[in-house]
Amino acid sequence: MQTQLNNITIGYSDQGTGLPIVFLHAFPLNRTMWATQEDALSSQFRIVTIDLRGHGESDAPLWRYTLEQSADDVRALLDYLAIRQALFVGLSMGGYILFAFYRKYASRVKGLILADTRAQADTVEGKEGRFQLAQTAYKKGPAAIADIMIPKLLSPVTIQTRPDLVQQVRAMIESNQISEIAGDLMAMADRPDSAPLLSQIACPTQIIVGELDQATPPADSKFMAEQIPHARLAIIPNAAHLANLEQPDAFNQIVSAFALNLEK
Ligand code: MLT
Repeated sequence: MQTQLNNITIGYSDQGTGLPIVFLHAFPLNRTMWATQEDALSSQFRIVTIDLRGHGESDAPLWRYTLEQSADDVRALLDYLAIRQALFVGLSMGGYILFAFYRKYASRVKGLILADTRAQADTVEGKEGRFQLAQTAYKKGPAAIADIMIPKLLSPVTIQTRPDLVQQVRAMIESNQISEIAGDLMAMADRPDSAPLLSQIACPTQIIVGELDQATPPADSKFMAEQIPHARLAIIPNAAHLANLEQPDAFNQIVSAFALNLEK
């Protein structure tokens, strides 16, 4: 489905009834990375997935944009769907956007699931890496970004044994416009440090990380779990950065248990 919000087209899906769970995807993917979660959980909950600006069926203006604007897009979609409060699941860049969302719209957050993400801002070297990746996208196109990203997103075993999943991830990456890859990279490089926010997060929070995640390693998740009051931490074995795709059953079980608890 698509709608016009904040002067752009936003793609989203909305399935099921019950507690709304809103899923925010990783860079440089789109909402279809949540298809397994949608299938497994929409019989129990209202599952909303959104294409963040510049991805999937959502567009973005050709100019600088920020993760705070993506948080505003999520807020606009909630208003459009008449959802007052939801449980939010953000993986990696989706998690960065949840920090921006929480800063502005905490009253809309019933619970948070922060998956394979980190609170800290980019280091100087990290920002330089974003600049170099944008140059690669500009010179060589999204296929070159897929070549670089896939070994960071999936575990070596997944890459060797699950060609369909690798192809699914590659297709998502290759469907991006270069301008939108660059837009995300600038937005992520410019994001503020969310570490000071962690101790102020007052809603129930679940943290999830793949034990083999190299992009946002388990140490980043342990730090968030130590700082956020009463947060829980789950480490999923045999998963790297895209834990929801590599180990969907384990991931869904954690989301479902946390959501059922929130409903009580
Ligand atoms: C993601 O999966 O969203 C990215 O790895 C995040 C990042 O590059 O920091």
